[in-house]
Amino acid sequence: MVTRRIAEILRNGQPDEPATIQGWVRTKRELKEFTFVEVNDGSSMANLQVVLNPDLPAYEEYLKKLNTGASVEVIGSLVASPAKGQRIELTASEIKVYGEADPETYPLQKKRHSFEFLRTIGHLRARTNTLGAVFRVRNACATAIHEFFQERGFLWVHTPIITGSDCEGAGEMFSVTGLNLKQIPRTDQQEVDYSQDFFGKPAYLTVSGQLEAEVMAMAFSDVYTFGPTFRAENSNTSRHLAEFWMVEPEMAFCDLEGNMDLAEAFLKHIFKSVLENCPEDMEFFNQRIDNSVLATADNIINNQFERITYTDAIALLEKADRQFEYPATWGVDLQSEHERYLAEELFKKPTIVTDYPVGIKAFYMRLNDDEKTVRAMDVLAPKIGEIIGGSQREERLDILERRIQAQGMNPEELWWYLDLRRYGTVPHAGFGLGFERLVQFMTGMGNIRDVIPFPRAPLSIEF
Ligand code: 4AD
Ligand code: MG
Repeated sequence: MVTRRIAEILRNGQPDEPATIQGWVRTKRELKEFTFVEVNDGSSMANLQVVLNPDLPAYEEYLKKLNTGASVEVIGSLVASPAKGQRIELTASEIKVYGEADPETYPLQKKRHSFEFLRTIGHLRARTNTLGAVFRVRNACATAIHEFFQERGFLWVHTPIITGSDCEGAGEMFSVTGLNLKQIPRTDQQEVDYSQDFFGKPAYLTVSGQLEAEVMAMAFSDVYTFGPTFRAENSNTSRHLAEFWMVEPEMAFCDLEGNMDLAEAFLKHIFKSVLENCPEDMEFFNQRIDNSVLATADNIINNQFERITYTDAIALLEKADRQFEYPATWGVDLQSEHERYLAEELFKKPTIVTDYPVGIKAFYMRLNDDEKTVRAMDVLAPKIGEIIGGSQREERLDILERRIQAQGMNPEELWWYLDLRRYGTVPHAGFGLGFERLVQFMTGMGNIRDVIPFPRAPLSIEF
């Protein structure tokens, strides 16, 4: 008989239907007349209640084996559940225990564990209610993202993970080398001789697929990437990872207005789609993690985002009736406390800040006529701060060359990127969404390490 997924049984199962399920025991309750075993297969937050009657062959033996964490197959028939809280349950006629889990040592017992503790058992934590819900919602977000772009005719392009260029120019890159670190070849000047390395020059893990996405946008008009990116910034915060996933749309024939419109429609679509596809998980987050999660989703879907220039934002921050740890003055980058003040307290909704000072943004952003600001945009979310960073790109060759030089980078290394401005250049724009920050925003989870299955952060690489 085909195995059925528990979510499907809970949704569609009818009394007297035969059913086979496979999953892991969450709890066991032994009563005088029979035993209840809750089984979960990851398809939903809710477990399927399995009823074991004492006339089951080897009943007593099974009772010893069916501890929390054990893996089982149950064959039986569905019955309407007399108890509250579930519609249908499964009366077992046969059981197979694939693997037992010793209750003396299995770390996930039936009690609330802290997220800190769960991070120390990264190989088991996906079996908990909260992490289970997180990873289902994460999957739903990814699906919604592809849905959104595919419906609009964007081409999904795959940009490289190993790269020779620093897109953000921030120097926060992990090196990739084939050199033997115990015997590094040196030049006469005692520098590392990269000509002997695998690629013949320095190579890194990418911080962003943007530059390559621009190449593809200059052929396919609208494209997006969705892949892992890496940053060697040593920030031990609840919003930073060393390895995170980024979604980067890039659009030819598009300016900053079009870019902002897309970002707003994009976030609205993802929230709508996740609410539709994961209602139980979202309800759980609202009840157990952050009671503003559903109101936030509603706010995103139904209200226009605030749009404000950096210069106006600084003026508001200077007027704010509070002491910031870092005072906000024109020319400095917005700190997380400033971002949250704007989005969370002042506007109480996502806020798009545009036209940042040229000195604090990457070389590729389009210079405004004032020559002091660039056509940048950051989407700030309540509680999270920056969730999206993007810009209209500098499409004018001479200005772009100047900007690259001004940032101490070598235009020759970016010859191919500059060629895009030599041959058929067009106004274009794009942005990057931090996928884990989105999942945090969606679920209310406080720490970014709990929304990615295997977090990479300083000193964290165990699993
Ligand atoms: O603002 P960022 O650095 O922008 C770029 O990389 C552009 N090249 C994107 C583009 O225009 N195509 O990063 C984009 C987003 C941020 O807004 C943030 O949400 C997320 O990526 N992000 C991080 N998420 C987790 N951990 C980190 N260390 C992150 N750094 C950035
Ligand atoms: Mg940014």
